[in-house]
Amino acid sequence: MSKRDFISVAGLTPDSLAALLDSADAFKTGRASQQLAGKAIAMLFQKPSLRTRVSFDIAIHQLGGHPIYLGPDEVGVGRREPVEDVARVLSRYVQGIVARVFAHDVVVQLAQHAAVPVVNGLSDSEHPCQALADLMTIRERHGRLRDLVIAFVGDGNNCAASLGLGAALSGAHYRIASPPDYQLPTALLDAIDRIGRVTGASVEVTQNPSAAVAQADAVYTDVWTSMGQEAEADLRKLAFAHYQVTPELLAKAKPGALLLHPLPAHHGEEIARGMLDHPASVVFDQAENRLHAQKAVLADLFGEA
Ligand code: CP
Ligand code: NVA
Repeated sequence: MSKRDFISVAGLTPDSLAALLDSADAFKTGRASQQLAGKAIAMLFQKPSLRTRVSFDIAIHQLGGHPIYLGPDEVGVGRREPVEDVARVLSRYVQGIVARVFAHDVVVQLAQHAAVPVVNGLSDSEHPCQALADLMTIRERHGRLRDLVIAFVGDGNNCAASLGLGAALSGAHYRIASPPDYQLPTALLDAIDRIGRVTGASVEVTQNPSAAVAQADAVYTDVWTSMGQEAEADLRKLAFAHYQVTPELLAKAKPGALLLHPLPAHHGEEIARGMLDHPASVVFDQAENRLHAQKAVLADLFGEA
């Protein structure tokens, strides 16, 4: 069988996403597997990381494999050496690659040229492993995803894109409030809409955070300035000034609504100070669930024993 990759949530189906979430739950409640015994996985990172780096390292170890971290200053993907050559060389040493990149096309090219599975550990366009952990966290608290309202407040970024696709595949309604120049790309919204026509999900774009959050089951936010956009930070602070998730905004959601954030948080910007400790906050469950969700992805890509 030819190798498979995990590059975008759009590559999943409603059933394959649900199966990954079930598998993640099973890992969380103690399922053991040595799926990666004797296998080495390269972790090729162009950007910094806490959660992705540590959770993949531990996941690979716990599945019996050997992680090799290659940080931003080591390989020089596309700089010291073309992406295509990096992919082909790594394929001679390791059995899988987890890549964190700037341009999404780099992870696509890695997957095209590698003979081994490639997992997107975040690109400028998507963060699919994060979305799995997000959906897992919402599902374990609410018991389901279908027909829930998931509200995203802030930048139409990588996390917003992957979450929107995952919500649509799960039959959940996605509302996203962003300033006019920072909305999800039209092609992505069209993709969410297409999936929703099959699953019964919907997507709504607004500039009004209160409208997005009204009676929502989950409220999600992420940084205004993502990695690689640091030069725009001042401009973005102005554009997003009215997009902070505060206790008052969260109070417009349904009673029992969850507060999510992929972390790292910029306290006092997209999220008011102290909000990670709000009773609605599940952000540390979300961070933990990265580990379980990624074990599910790795076990899936490397085939069941
Ligand atoms: N949420 C997340 O991906 O965190 P890191 O950037 O620390 O990996
Ligand atoms: N949108 C953020 C997510 C970090 C996990 C970024 O890309 O920097």
